[in-house]
Amino acid sequence: MSNSSSSRPLCMIPGPVEMSDTVLQSNSTPATAHTDPVFVEAFGQVIEMLRTVVGTKTAQPFVIAGSGTLGWDQSAANLVEAGENVLVLSNGYFGEGLADCMETYGAQVTRLRAEPGQRQQLAQVAQALRAKKYKLVTVTQVDTSTGVLGDVKGVAELVREHSPETLVVVDGVCATAAERLYFDAWGVDVVITASQKALGSPPGISVVVASQKALGVLKARQTPVPAYYINWNRWLPIMKSYEDRAAKYFATPCVQAIFALNTSLKEMLSDGGMESVFAAHERTAARVRSAVHKWGLETVAAAPELCSNAMTAVWLPASIQAADLLPKLKARGVVAAGGILAGQAHRYFRLGHMGISATRDNGNVDAMLKAAAEALEECGHSVATAGRSTPPRL
Ligand SMILES: Cc1ncc(COP(=O)(O)O)c(C=O)c1O
Repeated sequence: MSNSSSSRPLCMIPGPVEMSDTVLQSNSTPATAHTDPVFVEAFGQVIEMLRTVVGTKTAQPFVIAGSGTLGWDQSAANLVEAGENVLVLSNGYFGEGLADCMETYGAQVTRLRAEPGQRQQLAQVAQALRAKKYKLVTVTQVDTSTGVLGDVKGVAELVREHSPETLVVVDGVCATAAERLYFDAWGVDVVITASQKALGSPPGISVVVASQKALGVLKARQTPVPAYYINWNRWLPIMKSYEDRAAKYFATPCVQAIFALNTSLKEMLSDGGMESVFAAHERTAARVRSAVHKWGLETVAAAPELCSNAMTAVWLPASIQAADLLPKLKARGVVAAGGILAGQAHRYFRLGHMGISATRDNGNVDAMLKAAAEALEECGHSVATAGRSTPPRL
């Protein structure tokens, strides 16, 4: 499977990601009514395939026009009532954003923060769970600001042990389909994700998968959902109807984006299923980390078990700033991303390796690593002779 990349730079940021030609074609189909049987079938299949992607038989996918952030709003507005406690495990920029979003809907948020490059110790999480009753706990599976992998399985186990009524909400925007997640087996209640990362299709769709337990919490609310567009009570009949292959209207679905997502999910699942997709991301990420170490550099994620398989954030030598490096990568046909951690943004850069760039033999990751090595050389860092540099002290 190819992707049209010969005359334009490769997009190797941590999302949006490169897309296959068939996905691009699905995104440029003619105007189609949201009631057309062809669309109804495609939408129904998307809902079913998303269950497979996250590993659930019974949870309810919501597929709504918007970006990943809309999933934060959906979770906050539908599952939390003003004044209720929420524990946010924050490993960086996106953990902080999720906490801000929860507060916007009146949650009393406790932020359990980790140092950049680290994640919370499970003992700290257990202590927090013993100290207070939380309506929900959030884990950012990959915080895209650092490339640190959250311990979803470990946290879900602790919640079951210490506070079984608490909902486990996972921000999987930069993780779903790149990192292992077994929704039913691990006891997850909500996965928030988006179309433009490891799901391999264009931006434009907010995907949230909610457990029956989470839907029970919605039903048992004492107060109305404080939102209109993202009220799951409005969307639930729509999702059920499309899954039963009947159109139903609440707000216009993003028809072409759903066609494109349908194609990318089919391609992903026909490539040997999720186990092979996860394994391909693991192999690709290992290759990227090995190159980073050969360049004499360190990942922002401070230990191998903290490194994401979806992306890698790399500390730069003190003499180089991200703003010096990125144009040199671009000149070599590769778009990478700068840092986004407050106060540290210039000191590191980020490489995305999700979707077809990770799962297919298309040369994208080789091109990215070659361009990065050459750009580092041009900035004065000798990758050939480099020893391991010491990561900056924060
Ligand atoms: C972990 C994480 N959460 C949430 C978001 C927000 O998603 P979006 O930019 O699609 O609104 C992002 C975006 O990169 C992300 O990486």
